[in-house]
Amino acid sequence: MENNNGYEPQLIDLRNLVKNYRTGSGEVNVLKEINLTIGPGEFVSVMGPSGSGKSTLINMITGIDRPSGGEVLVDGQMVHTMSEDELARWRGRSIGVIFQFFQLIPTLTILENIILPMDFCGKFSSRERSQRAMRLLERVGIPEQADKLPSTLSGGQQQRAAIARALANDPPLLVGDEPTGNLDRHTAAEMFSLFESLREEGKTILIVTHDRELSERTRRVIHLLDGSIEKDHPAAAQSALPEDQQRAMPLPPLANSSHRKITDAHRSHRCVSIPAQGTDPGRDTPRGQAGGGRGGRENGKAGLQ
Ligand SMILES: Nc1ncnc2c1ncn2[C@@H]1O[C@H](COP(=O)(O)OP(=O)(O)O)[C@@H](O)[C@H]1O
Ligand SMILES: [Mg+2]
Repeated sequence: MENNNGYEPQLIDLRNLVKNYRTGSGEVNVLKEINLTIGPGEFVSVMGPSGSGKSTLINMITGIDRPSGGEVLVDGQMVHTMSEDELARWRGRSIGVIFQFFQLIPTLTILENIILPMDFCGKFSSRERSQRAMRLLERVGIPEQADKLPSTLSGGQQQRAAIARALANDPPLLVGDEPTGNLDRHTAAEMFSLFESLREEGKTILIVTHDRELSERTRRVIHLLDGSIEKDHPAAAQSALPEDQQRAMPLPPLANSSHRKITDAHRSHRCVSIPAQGTDPGRDTPRGQAGGGRGGRENGKAGLQ
């Protein structure tokens, strides 16, 4: 992430970010002049009451929704100025999104679910994809589930698979909007352990959670209240892990894949055009998405390359 001057840019840089929604009863100011930077390798949780703007903030960072004002810079890209095509390509390579309800494609095996975003983005050769997907399943601890359908897995196993899918194109940034909201406490804690180890490998991780205990396992907690950052502070119980714990897991090339089924559930894991529905199940999103333009950065900071 360093440029020639040794200056390390922020991975996320929000400048005077404003989001308004037009509703039947007028315009609602949902995000109010948010200024926020998150550096490479940070592990950050976002907390706040329901309706405080957490999902809206996440949707600004992933480019799923557009700001009404201000700037959104992520991984060196001016997200707020990108076309739909550019956004789709950039998002597929730069961000892994993890959902509360996993959103694996039910008719594909777990392995196929993880290969699919690689098929969309073309970052890895078709020969590499299957073996890389298997390595990712090993990385998240469920290699034995590779050939099963999602419905046969537990919630925790499905979320592990979804994390493997989010890592498919080796994005520098993982973003989750309440990814443990549908898991029991023990399983949720396991997910956070997995996030911690991914952070140690150099990923930047931004997780919305309602669980204070889990949030204390991140390095930094951002509290939203009524569309503003109320508090932004280091987590009380943060551990002092060295910043340079980065491991590389080279993935040898292997077999071809030919999975082309596409659903909305995969819209955040692709580099091609699919209509969008927003990250919150059940909510209308103000705009759709299309895809197929130029890409963003090629490489994440660390491991699982
Ligand atoms: N597409 C939309 N249209 C109108 N209002 C919206 C839309 N999305 C979110 N809101 C409103 O913005 C506020 C923040 O929502 P949200 O970001 O989902 O909060 P949180 O994720 O913290 O619960 C809420 O009042 C919500 O009703
Ligand atoms: Mg929300």
